[in-house]
Amino acid sequence: MHTSDKPQTLFDIDPANLEFYRDVIMGLRGSPRQISSKYFYDQRGSELFDAICELDEYYPTRTELGIMERHAKEMADALGEGCMLIELGSGSSLKTRILLEHLADPKVYMPVDISREHLSKTVRDLTSEYEGVEIVPICADFGKDFVIPTSTTPTQRRVIYFPGSTIGNFEWAEAESLLGRIASWVGPGGGLLIGFDTCADRAKLEAAYNDRLGITAAFNLNLLEHMNRELGGDFQLAGFRHRAVYEEAERRMVMWLDSQHDQEVTIAGETFKFDEGESIHTEYSHKYDLATFCKTARRAGLTLSKAWTDTNGLFAVALFMVES
Ligand code: AVI
Repeated sequence: MHTSDKPQTLFDIDPANLEFYRDVIMGLRGSPRQISSKYFYDQRGSELFDAICELDEYYPTRTELGIMERHAKEMADALGEGCMLIELGSGSSLKTRILLEHLADPKVYMPVDISREHLSKTVRDLTSEYEGVEIVPICADFGKDFVIPTSTTPTQRRVIYFPGSTIGNFEWAEAESLLGRIASWVGPGGGLLIGFDTCADRAKLEAAYNDRLGITAAFNLNLLEHMNRELGGDFQLAGFRHRAVYEEAERRMVMWLDSQHDQEVTIAGETFKFDEGESIHTEYSHKYDLATFCKTARRAGLTLSKAWTDTNGLFAVALFMVES
């Protein structure tokens, strides 16, 4: 987009970004100011997240992958033959591949993602490799309700695969309602295979979200760049600083962008004043103990069938079923 194409008023915003605009304006008018972490993932944000997953300090990706490599056969046996596998978020094709390779005669693979680019990449990557599997991409925000299309291919059961501890980015009430929607999407006899972070070590957690190379800081600050580009904002990135802190009582990492001095920011015609030290909340990343997570899942209609963990207790992959 040319600088002159940058939205100047609400009427210049691409209709596809109107919800983003509404969420940002409401979030910046509120107190504390906050912007949903789902807006991290423009193209640059997704690239930065991929780089985070490779960092020494960021243990979750590597730990979950290790669990998948060690136990995929057992997970696949528990899921049974002829599944429809529905994946929430399609950015993890390595873990998906491990699962697909072990599943007995999977019939349908349905990646659900808000980003069309992610979906086309996943479809391109997987179509030629899994010829017997029907691939049905769904472009949707899985944080909201959507309809899972019925496939013409007969399947034995629906299973949702939700790796990466993305559930941790939802607040408890939202996580519980998402789990409830998952239970209704898969129906009686269906399953949920979910990965979540179980680390409780403050030093390890704070290192993971404050890496030495500053990739997480760039990922957090890129949110400002995303708003500048799509919503015509004039955030000065140097005027804000990344902060990530572990809240022990809530068992969660919290990320903020702190204003470095008094400043004004305008977004599509509306001006926001920031005092020095004032913060924008940008992300929660909840960490769970298995028992508490299971209680929440139970209330949402999901019963634990089996959980697999690493030897250091940093991560869990758990299979839940909806009773038939
Ligand atoms: C995608 N999500 C599970 C990541 C997390 O750890 O909460 C996003 C992230 N934020 C900072 N680093 C990684």
